[in-house]
Amino acid sequence: MSEKKIAIVTGANSGLGKAFVELLLREPLDEIWAVARNEARLQEVQQLDRSRIRIFSADLTDLATLVPFENALAEEKPSVRFLVNNAGFAKFADYASLDIHESSNLIDLNAKAVVQMALRTIPHMTAGASIINIGSLSAFMPLPYMNIYAATKVFVKNYSLALREELKPVGIHVTAVCPGWIDTNLYARAEIGAEKSVNTFSGMVKPDVVARKAIADAKNNRALSIYGFLPNAVRVLAKFLPASLCMRLWMMQQKF
Ligand SMILES: NC(=O)c1ccc[n+]([C@@H]2O[C@H](COP(=O)([O-])OP(=O)(O)OC[C@H]3O[C@@H](n4cnc5c(N)ncnc54)[C@H](OP(=O)(O)O)[C@@H]3O)[C@@H](O)[C@H]2O)c1
Repeated sequence: MSEKKIAIVTGANSGLGKAFVELLLREPLDEIWAVARNEARLQEVQQLDRSRIRIFSADLTDLATLVPFENALAEEKPSVRFLVNNAGFAKFADYASLDIHESSNLIDLNAKAVVQMALRTIPHMTAGASIINIGSLSAFMPLPYMNIYAATKVFVKNYSLALREELKPVGIHVTAVCPGWIDTNLYARAEIGAEKSVNTFSGMVKPDVVARKAIADAKNNRALSIYGFLPNAVRVLAKFLPASLCMRLWMMQQKF
C-alpha cells in the first residue's frame, strides 16, 4: 500500500454524494475518487478542487465500465480511508408500472454494487478506515409503492451490520446511514407518472447535514447514522409496531 490516502465516493456528482465530496475535502486526504455515470456533472464536482478530485465515469451496474477505476486501485495501491457507497436510485410506483429491467436494475445498483465496491476496496483499507453505506429510513419497514427500493435498503443495513462485525478484528469501521427524505435529484428519476406515486415527503432535509453526521458517526465507529428527530422517532416506532401497522400508517400518510 502506498502513502497516498484517498476517499472513494460513488454517486459523487449529485445530491448526497456531492455533499460527501465537499466535506471529505476538509479531511487529511490526498485525493477523493469520485464515481458516477455522467461525466459532465463529475467534471463540475471536480472544479471544487482540481488537484485532489479524480473522476471515474462508470455505471456501477455494468462492471466492465469499472475497469479504469480497478486499474487505478491496482497500480497505485492507495490507502483507502473512506469508502462512501452512496450511488442509488428510487422509483415511486406500483410493481406493475416498472418493467423487469428497471426493477432488477434497482437491486443491481442499490444492493449489488454496494457489495462489489466493498469487496474491491477492503483489501486497500487498514485499521481506522471507514465504509459508509447509504441505506435509508425505509430499511426499517416495508414500503408499498417503493417496494424494491425499500427492500434493497434492508439489504444495505443488514449487510453493513454484519460486515462491521467481521471487520472488527482488523479495525475497519462500517456505518449504515439511514436518512429520511433529503432534498436531492433523486425525485427526478423516481417520479415516472405512475397512478399511485409517493407524494408526501415529510421532514425533508438538506444533504450536507446528513453527510456531516455520517462522517462524524463513521469516525466514532457507530453502527448506524440517522439524522434528525423525525427519522429517529420513525425508527423507534418501527421497532415496536408490527410491519402491517407501519405499512398502514405509510399508506395513510401518502393518501393511497
Ligand atoms: N433523496 C432522498 O430522499 C434519500 C433518502 C434516503 C436515502 N437516499 C439515498 O441517498 C443516496 C444518494 O441519492 P441522492 O438522494 O443524492 O440522489 P441523486 O441526487 O439522484 O444522486 C444519485 C447519484 O447516484 C449516481 N448514480 C445513479 N445511477 C448510477 C449508476 N448506475 N452507476 C453509478 N452511479 C449512479 C448518480 O449519478 P449519475 O446519474 O451520473 O450516474 C448520482 O450521483 C442513494 O443511495 C439514495 O437511495 C436518498
